[in-house]
Amino acid sequence: MLEKIELIREELGAYEAATTEGLEAYRMKYISRKSVINALFDDFKHVPNDQKKQFGQTLNQLKQEAQAKFDELIASLETASDQSDTAPVDLTLPNIANELGSLHPLTVTYNRIVEIFERLGFSVKDGPEVEDDFHNFTALNFPENHPAREMQDTFFIEKNPDILLRTHTSNVQIRLMEHGKPPFRSIMPGRVYRNEAISARAHCFFHQVEGLYVDRNVGFKDLKQTLLHFSRELFGKDTQIRLRPSYFPFTEPSAEIDISCFICKGKGCKVCKGTGWVEIAGAGMVDPNVLSTCGIDPEEYTGYAFGMGIERIAMLKYQVDDLRLFSENDVRFLRQFKGAF
Ligand code: PHE
Repeated sequence: MLEKIELIREELGAYEAATTEGLEAYRMKYISRKSVINALFDDFKHVPNDQKKQFGQTLNQLKQEAQAKFDELIASLETASDQSDTAPVDLTLPNIANELGSLHPLTVTYNRIVEIFERLGFSVKDGPEVEDDFHNFTALNFPENHPAREMQDTFFIEKNPDILLRTHTSNVQIRLMEHGKPPFRSIMPGRVYRNEAISARAHCFFHQVEGLYVDRNVGFKDLKQTLLHFSRELFGKDTQIRLRPSYFPFTEPSAEIDISCFICKGKGCKVCKGTGWVEIAGAGMVDPNVLSTCGIDPEEYTGYAFGMGIERIAMLKYQVDDLRLFSENDVRFLRQFKGAF
């Protein structure tokens, strides 16, 4: 009997399974219920009592060895098949180039705007898109029940009309000034929302960059010179700017900023609708009421602010004639900005 066990042990040691069939044959012969090892257990009853202990131990050991060998065969078969999946590799084949993506035109425009203002010493600040009435309107000198609030069609949160989606990035001016001390020199980019019918020229969300500079002796001339410099950097060094009187509750005096049309150089074309000028921003001197609301003494400090639409600037710069293209994610449109950064 012990000799038989020894024989099986030798067989096990030498067994090799290069295929799943080989593995299955092994299982049938040494592991399954009908295996040669199980047959030996049947012989157990014929073993004389004084040898039962030794025989039992040896047989159990053989059974464990058979299982360990089986696990080993499975593992080596698996690694062999893993390797054959990836091999052979033909290293002489030409490379399939991955197509490079492109930045979104609004990101490209935004990066350019930030870059220009950063060089003038402006930092970039962020603020919430879900805002309260105070920061979006009241602190910006919009009187209660004043029609000026209707200039901007607001999305209110139904359950709490005090909470709304900001209609402009001017809320960040307040968030900055109420918690800090002058001087402030920041630009504040972000998404804004207005309840407008969607068309080629209007959307219910778009992006703005707000600018704020508050310090001692900041004057209107500083605003004008900064915007002139900005416009020349972005649209070319021959660009002229024009300021038209306007109204915003939070600036006094207020102006709309136009640039000379960089397409026709002022002669009149489709982009400027024959006028030679295109509007790019709203701006003005920060209203003293806004400064006091934020705890800043308007006798000591003055400042200017401006706000421009990123879509508007991107549309002018890249001559895109439909605002909806920016949010539709049509790759045929987006691919055209490859290489821009
Ligand atoms: N918040 C204004 C708008 O959305 C733009 C603006 C910003 C005007 C700052 C003046 C100063 O139209």
